Amino acid sequence: MYRSHNCGELRESHFNQKVTLSGWVQTIRDKGFVAWVDLRDRYGITQLVFDTDRSSSDLLEQARHLGREFVIQIEGEVIERASKNPNIPTGNIEVLVSKLTVLNESLVPPFTIEDKTDGGDDIRMKYRYLDIRRNPVKENLIFRSKVAIEVRKYLSDEGFIEVETPVLIKSTPEGARDFVVPSRMNEGQFYALPQSPQTFKQLLMVGGLDKYFQIVKCFRDEDLRADRQPEFTQIDCEMAFVEQEDILNAFEGLTKHLLKEMKGVEIESFPRMTFDEAMKRYGNDKPDIRFGMEFGELNEVTQHKDFNVFNSAELVVGISVPGGNSYTRKEIDKLTDWVKRPQVGALGMVYCRCNDDGSFKSSVDKFYDQEDLAKWAEVTGAKVGDLICILSGDTNKVRAQLSALRMELAERLGLRNPEEFAPLWVIDFPLLELDEETGHYHAMHHPFTSPKPGQLQLLDSDPGAVRANAYDLVLNGNEIGGGSIRIHDKETQNTMFKHLGFTPEEAKAQFGFLMDAFQYGAPPHGGIAFGLDRLVAILGGQETIRDFIAFPKNNSGRDVMIDAPAPIDDEQLKELNLKLDL
Ligand code: AMO
Repeated sequence: MYRSHNCGELRESHFNQKVTLSGWVQTIRDKGFVAWVDLRDRYGITQLVFDTDRSSSDLLEQARHLGREFVIQIEGEVIERASKNPNIPTGNIEVLVSKLTVLNESLVPPFTIEDKTDGGDDIRMKYRYLDIRRNPVKENLIFRSKVAIEVRKYLSDEGFIEVETPVLIKSTPEGARDFVVPSRMNEGQFYALPQSPQTFKQLLMVGGLDKYFQIVKCFRDEDLRADRQPEFTQIDCEMAFVEQEDILNAFEGLTKHLLKEMKGVEIESFPRMTFDEAMKRYGNDKPDIRFGMEFGELNEVTQHKDFNVFNSAELVVGISVPGGNSYTRKEIDKLTDWVKRPQVGALGMVYCRCNDDGSFKSSVDKFYDQEDLAKWAEVTGAKVGDLICILSGDTNKVRAQLSALRMELAERLGLRNPEEFAPLWVIDFPLLELDEETGHYHAMHHPFTSPKPGQLQLLDSDPGAVRANAYDLVLNGNEIGGGSIRIHDKETQNTMFKHLGFTPEEAKAQFGFLMDAFQYGAPPHGGIAFGLDRLVAILGGQETIRDFIAFPKNNSGRDVMIDAPAPIDDEQLKELNLKLDL
C-alpha cells in the first residue's frame, strides 16, 4: 500500500495514528538536529519531521539527502505541530517519520513548483508536466473537469444523447483552413480534421436522434490568440423540431446551471441584443456589458463646422471615460498613440475634457464652442470629471477602433471584474459577410444557416441585408457560443451554395451527402456549439484559454514539449505518396 491517507487530509483527529503517505518533496529545512520536509501531492501539503531524539539519526541523515521533487513514501505518527501554520488545512499537525523510502529521485526542476513560480511561459510549456504540479494549473484542470461533468449531467438529464462523430472527415467549412491528413491507402487523397462536427450533427437529426451533444475536439488552422488554439474543445449540440427560441431557452438553461454550480451566481434571464444594435452601441458583436461607456454617434452634432476630418467621415463616434478628466495631457497623448498603433489603426483621436466647473475643453476648440461641446457630452452621456474620446472614419473600421479603446480603458479602469458575469445573446446576425479583399460574400456563420423567414428573395437584390436565424452567446465580452437554425431542404441549400459562389458540381462534390440526406425527410433543426475552453477560462476568471488546457500549443502552433509538428522520414513520406521525386 503506497498510502493510507493523502497529503491534504490529516487533522488533529488523527493524532497518534500511524499513517503512510506518498508524494513529492516540496521543501527541506535542515536545522542540524532536526529536519522538516514538506510533502506534496494533488490534495495538499503535509509537514514531515525527522529528528535525532524521536526518530533515528540514520533517518535524519537519509532525509538530508532528499532533493526537491523526489518521490518518497513515509511511515510515521501524526503528532501536534509545535509552530502551527494557519495558512494550510494540515497546519496543526505534522508526521513524525519512522520509515522513509525513496520511490524515485528527481533532477532539480527548471523552475520552482510554487504558485508564483520563477519559470517563464516557454520553460513551463516545455516541462508542462512539472507546471501541472503547481496549484494554479492543477486547479484550472480540476475546474475544467467539473464544468465538463456538469455539462454532461445537465444535458443528459434534459434528454440529450452524446454521440461521437468521426475525426477523419472531409472539409466542414467554419471559416478557417483545414488541417489535413494524407491517406496511405488512397493515393493523393486527404482527410480533413473537423473544424466542427457541423454536418454530422445535422445528419444525426436526419437520423432521428432529436437531441444530440458531444464534448468534442475541433481543429482549425488559423492565427492564434489568447482565446484561440488550433485544437480546441466544443460542447456541440443539435436539436430537431425547434425554432430559435427553443434553442436559446435550452442553452440559457445550461449556462445558468453552470453559473450556479460553478460560481454560485444566479441570473434571472439573459438580455438579448440584435447584431445591429450591438454594433451601434458597442462597435462589436460580442460586447462586454459589465460596464457602460456606450458609443454616442456624433455626426449630427459635429458635421456643421469647418472641421474637415469630421465632415468627411462616414461616422463620428465617441465614448465617455469615467473620471477621465484627471488624465494629464501626456496621458491623453499616450492614449492617442495607443489608438494609432497599427493593431488598432485609428488616424487620430479628438478629445474633450468635462471640467469640474461644468465647462468643456476640447482638442478642436478652434472649431467648436461650448454649446457644441455640451451636445457631445449629452450624446456620449459624459458627466463632470469625464473625458470624451472621439474617433472618426469609415463606419466599420471606426467602430472596431473605438471598441478596442473602450475595452482597453475599461481594463485600465478595473471595470472588467472577473467575478462578475454578464451573459448576452446577440441575435439576428447577417447571413452573409462581404470579404473586402475579394469582393465576394461568404457565410457569416456557416453555409448551413437559414435566412430569416421571407428573406430568401433579398439574396439577389441586397445580400448584405439578409438576416439569419443565427445567434451567439457572449459572456463578459467573449463569444463563448454560436449557432443557428439550419436550412433543411435541398432547394434552399442549393440557393445558398449558389450565392456563396459554389458551382452545382462543387456543391455536389463537397456536400452531396448532406443534400442527399435532405431528400429523405430531414426535420427542421438547429443547434449551437460552445467553446468549452473559453467558457471554462471565463468562469475561472481569466481570458487566456491556454491556462485551462493540459497540453496547449504556443502562438506558433507548436507543442514545445513533444516538439511537434516535426518532419517525418523519407520512408513514411513515400508510403503516404508525399515524396516529391526531384
Ligand atoms: P463557431 O465557429 O462559432 O460555430 O464555434 C463555436 C464556438 O467555438 C469556440 N471556438 C474556439 N475556441 C478556441 N479556439 C478556437 N480556435 C475556436 N474557434 C471557435 C468559440 C465559438 O463560439 N458548427 C458551429 C456551431 C453551430 O452552428 O452549431 C460552430 O462551430 O467559443
